Amino acid sequence: MRKQYLSAPLPFVGQKRMFAREFIKVLKQYPEDTVFVDLFGGSGLLSHIAKCQKPNATVIYNDFDGYRNRLQHIPQTNRLLADLRKMVEAEGVPKHSCIRGDLRDRIFARLEQEEREVGYIDFITITSGLMFSMKYKLSIAEMRKEALYNNLRKTDYPLCDDYLEGITVVSCDYKEVFARYKDMPNVVFLVDPPYLSTDVGTYNMYWRLSDYLDVLTILAGHRFVYFTSNKSSIIELCEWMGRNPTVGNPFRNCHKVEFNATVNYSSHYTDMMLFTDAA
Ligand SMILES: C[S@@+](CC[C@H](N)C(=O)[O-])C[C@H]1O[C@@H](n2cnc3c(N)ncnc32)[C@H](O)[C@@H]1O
Repeated sequence: MRKQYLSAPLPFVGQKRMFAREFIKVLKQYPEDTVFVDLFGGSGLLSHIAKCQKPNATVIYNDFDGYRNRLQHIPQTNRLLADLRKMVEAEGVPKHSCIRGDLRDRIFARLEQEEREVGYIDFITITSGLMFSMKYKLSIAEMRKEALYNNLRKTDYPLCDDYLEGITVVSCDYKEVFARYKDMPNVVFLVDPPYLSTDVGTYNMYWRLSDYLDVLTILAGHRFVYFTSNKSSIIELCEWMGRNPTVGNPFRNCHKVEFNATVNYSSHYTDMMLFTDAA
């Protein structure tokens, strides 16, 4: 029997593990020959669960971030983690404590050796063991700017060779994937876009409001499972637009003056004045 994962096998920010059980319930309503297209596949968790629940369905996983590559490197990642664990344990660094001095230098030396000799480091997984949650760094240079902690797991990551079994993996912009499948009968789109205006350091992009709204244009007329959060206020916006469908863009012909304001060294925003023509 195939193992069903209810959370992604390797760390991934934004994975929908908390929705896993509810998502399974939603899947039950679809016929066995459904085509599920996971437009923002991330860790592939939704694709994986869909295939486990509906083995005869076609499942397309859009692996925009190269998660499959990380999965393929689990044996190397486990070896590197085992070495780091040994080094940290030999010095008796307690769990969650800071790693300093000579040990810190030796850890970086070991990472540099890995880059030289193996040519690949799964930085997201490695930094999740050496930093605090959600603080992922994608290079040794970036890691050097941070404090290191002993958050290493005690056990290896499972090899999970069958995690993507039977699933078609693609890797491109969601619009391209959508265009490919939009006219297919029985298609259901799984739509879990990046969080609005958050620079999720580990994704390959920065999402603005218009990017977020573009996604809505593909929903109409299709079956979908859509994920969002109250941070984006997108549902409130859509409800408002539903009540005021004729507003259009009230600023269309306006002039604009901007001022940059600074809250503190890392936080800036822009104040704006918009005005109509006098005549
Ligand atoms: C919230 S995550 C999806 C998480 C996923 N459902 C899971 O459970 O792991 C959003 C994903 O969309 C990806 N993404 C960003 N821009 C994209 C684009 N233009 N086309 C497709 N995917 C994109 C991000 O890199 C990220 O992996």
